[in-house]
Amino acid sequence: MDIIRTSDYEEMSRKAADLMEAQLREKPDCVLGLATGSTPVGTYRELVRRAREGLLHFSKAKTVNLDEYVGLPPENEQSYRYFMQKNLFDWVDIKRENTFVPDGMAKDLPKACGEYEALIRSLKGIDLQLLGIGHNGHIGFNEPGEVFEKETHLVNLSERTIKANARFFSSPDEVPRQAVTMGILSIMRARKILLLASGAQKAKIVKEAFFGPITPKVPASVLQLHPAVTLIADAEALKECDLV
Ligand code: F6R
Repeated sequence: MDIIRTSDYEEMSRKAADLMEAQLREKPDCVLGLATGSTPVGTYRELVRRAREGLLHFSKAKTVNLDEYVGLPPENEQSYRYFMQKNLFDWVDIKRENTFVPDGMAKDLPKACGEYEALIRSLKGIDLQLLGIGHNGHIGFNEPGEVFEKETHLVNLSERTIKANARFFSSPDEVPRQAVTMGILSIMRARKILLLASGAQKAKIVKEAFFGPITPKVPASVLQLHPAVTLIADAEALKECDLV
């Protein structure tokens, strides 16, 4: 695992954009696995800036998002499709038909999960998967549990995640109770993984995930077994880790 320590959120975002830019230059038709949440917003902002200056092109790239709430249509401002449009897709030269987000409105959700997994396979897998980390160690919406969840599946969100995500809604009651998420196996199959963490509130979980035991109770800890993980974190998020 490579660990890149940055002084703050802005530097973390620039370094993450550097790695994504390198991926796009090396393989313009690459498949990028994308995340939502607060953490990657600065990275997307930086990618948009570079794309608008003509330094970066997404015209051949494809993207697959990690997850989506159940029951929120794409035009709902809290849906992850909407988030991706507003933070990245609407501002760069990516083709809408090359961007994929799980369908949280599907009538048959288990079937839609299988189809999403088949879609990733048909794209020949993910070249670079971007991840954030939840306070409880979740990646995507893979919540702490007794086993590592495998492929794309339907999940009941934990109370802690509902509470954490309530900041984006007018009340916790509005936070959907279910989501569709890529599974741990879907994530682990990505050729490269880039996990971002920022701020003191992530310090404890970053230490547990990357320096503690590998256990489904801390889903992100499985990343210790992946051969090509880069953790980019700011000083606050790394403050509990003993790094030389
Ligand atoms: C988002 C996702 C989540 C977030 C995690 C951290 O697509 O899958 O796992 O990465 O909840 O969220 P933030 O970045 O808001 O702290």
